[in-house]
Amino acid sequence: PLVSSKGMFEKAYGKYAIGAFNVNNMEILQGVIEAAKEERAPVILQISAGARKYAKQVYLIKLIQAALEDAPDIPICVHLDHGDSFELCKAVIDTGFFTSVMIDGSHLPFEENVKLTKQVVDYAHPRGVVVEGELGRLVGIEEHVVVSEREAFMTDSDKAVEFVERTNVDSLAIAIGTSHGAYKFKGEAKLDFDRLREIANRLPNFPLVLHGASSVLPEFVEKINKYGGKVEGAQGVPEDMIRKATTMGICKVNIDTDLRLAMTATIREVFALHPEEFDPRKYLGPAREAIKQLVKHKMRNVLGCSGQ
Ligand code: G3H
Ligand code: 13P
Ligand code: NA
Ligand code: ZN
Repeated sequence: PLVSSKGMFEKAYGKYAIGAFNVNNMEILQGVIEAAKEERAPVILQISAGARKYAKQVYLIKLIQAALEDAPDIPICVHLDHGDSFELCKAVIDTGFFTSVMIDGSHLPFEENVKLTKQVVDYAHPRGVVVEGELGRLVGIEEHVVVSEREAFMTDSDKAVEFVERTNVDSLAIAIGTSHGAYKFKGEAKLDFDRLREIANRLPNFPLVLHGASSVLPEFVEKINKYGGKVEGAQGVPEDMIRKATTMGICKVNIDTDLRLAMTATIREVFALHPEEFDPRKYLGPAREAIKQLVKHKMRNVLGCSGQ
């Protein structure tokens, strides 16, 4: 059934996390849903502004309605990923279908982030929709921030407490060293677990969210490069670090890049090994299966939400 993330996070807190997977088309959605069915796992389907534009929101909503029918026993939350304005959040809430929205004011000065986030919360809560805010900035290696300055972008625990109190958000995305995309670290991967522990201690039982949580699995990067692609120097968050974070207050783990890599690696392999094929089902089918296997692996071995 269609649910909010509130109950999911209450049940998961400190023990496991819910996977939030970005959905852009039917094959990705079906891969994620088949995995959730086989693992008997709750799941968050998240739609970005880019996804709304690419697929048209109405197509995604109708596809997800079909998924709800196809998987009646699975708790499914439908979430707006990285809402960047009140108007976008309002438009999504007004569909009456989304059960959760993110307002990402992380690029704004603190007071403006508080104001914008509170505005969204005040609109969302009376309509039964929960809100994820973000405090701190995610910076990848391509962002040219020197090592000594990286800490300044991470989430401050005092500010996090003040932000949650003043906005009344339902969950908070924090910056502890992850970043979006396939190029997260130069050299050794490192997350600031002391910072996570401090934030979680200051906000007891409050659900925290980890963006930029793809692991950039070498098997997919290697396959992409083997079959004519060019993804060099890619590095993600090791899966044991994600696993650790799920026991420390991280209740939602956002994964998009790993889906993209699995899909692309699989399609490249089909094209390379079967150049005579031109039926889209012959490469989108295997790509959907690769997504399913990847999501099953995340649920079972990394997030711990299988059977929940
Ligand atoms: O955080 C970004 C997500 O991976 C969504 O990406 O905005 O290209 O759809 P997108
Ligand atoms: P990745 O790029 O690591 O998959 O992160 C996705 C994300 O945070 C979506 O909001
Ligand atoms: Na999000
Ligand atoms: Zn994100």
